[in-house]
Amino acid sequence: MTGNILVTGGAGYIGSHACVALLEAGFRVVVVDNLCNSHPLALQRVQDITGLPLIFEQSDIRDRTAMGELFARHDIAAVLHFAGLKAVGESCEKPLLYYENNVSGTVHLLQAMQQAGVRRMIFSSSATVYGFPDSMPVNEATPLAAYNPYGRTKQMIEQILGDLCSSGAEDHWQIALLRYFNPAGAHESGLIGEDPHGIPNNLLPYVAQVAAGRLEWLPVFGDDYPTPDGTGVRDYIHVQDLVNGHLLALRKLLGLAVGETFCRAYNLGTGKGYSVLDMVKTFEQVNGVKVPYRMMPRRDGDVASCWADAGRAREELGWEPQKDLSAMLADSWHWQRKNPKGYRQ
Ligand SMILES: NC(=O)c1ccc[n+]([C@@H]2O[C@H](COP(=O)([O-])OP(=O)(O)OC[C@H]3O[C@@H](n4cnc5c(N)ncnc54)[C@H](O)[C@@H]3O)[C@@H](O)[C@H]2O)c1
Repeated sequence: MTGNILVTGGAGYIGSHACVALLEAGFRVVVVDNLCNSHPLALQRVQDITGLPLIFEQSDIRDRTAMGELFARHDIAAVLHFAGLKAVGESCEKPLLYYENNVSGTVHLLQAMQQAGVRRMIFSSSATVYGFPDSMPVNEATPLAAYNPYGRTKQMIEQILGDLCSSGAEDHWQIALLRYFNPAGAHESGLIGEDPHGIPNNLLPYVAQVAAGRLEWLPVFGDDYPTPDGTGVRDYIHVQDLVNGHLLALRKLLGLAVGETFCRAYNLGTGKGYSVLDMVKTFEQVNGVKVPYRMMPRRDGDVASCWADAGRAREELGWEPQKDLSAMLADSWHWQRKNPKGYRQ
């Protein structure tokens, strides 16, 4: 294979796992990250796990000049675009920051790609783009109806990428939009994992920090949803399975003819829904720990249930999640125990 794979946001939670998978699959990796929500130790750990080097460029994707220079310095075959801000609550408080970072940042990145003649991108989208779907499971034909600024940045970027693909016969973009459901778990080594700053936004890091005694109890928002036990149901997907989906999408793009335009969305979820209480109880069982929790009122903007129809990824990419809920919860606890303060020792 010629060329490197550029991983934007490669020091982050999912990006660092993707770097491991790419290096292990024999790709050369260049990471660009401004470290606004990550730590450089993650990249050292990626190299420790794989025994292979990667190139790190500390830069901001909004910096058009820096992006131009980066593409001039490295021969890039494709971009895995993870860089972005992802906290829904913060996006409601600071919408301009989110539109600037996620949307403008992606536009600058795309301009640099266009100038350098790089046309392949795998974009980290989210199930949030579906808003409040009428029925489950959600497939890719479900209308997009994001309802918060974070989700709208993902929907807008998907639209921008779609426009690029339909922009002209000579500009053959090849793009996979990967809509993640709820990424969870960590690399089985316990060396890399999710390292939230402050109070975690996602369920699993919260559960793990309560189990470790770092937080006192878990707030469970809503116990009167129309679900089997009244708590919200989500489709949790092991981060290793998620990054395997990226590798398969990358191989698909690399296998296309140069003159073939391609833009396709794929759901990445297991197709199984688990409630918050399922997660808490299974975490306790699998790991032999207690997770005290308290019922709280529903939170604005939470859907009762959401799980994926990932049939398209299975049929077109050959993707099949391998890791079950127990593995996800055990790996998450392993990471937490080995790194009680995350990367900040
Ligand atoms: N984790 C989830 O639950 C989830 C779900 C759906 C989609 N996603 C998307 O997947 C991607 C990766 O998520 P994650 O959980 O690994 O998040 P993360 O915050 O751990 O990683 C994102 C990385 O991007 C970097 N970054 C942010 N803005 C940047 C900029 N302007 N220039 C350079 N680097 C920048 C951050 O420093 C961080 O290392 C994000 O785009 C996120 O929206 C995540």
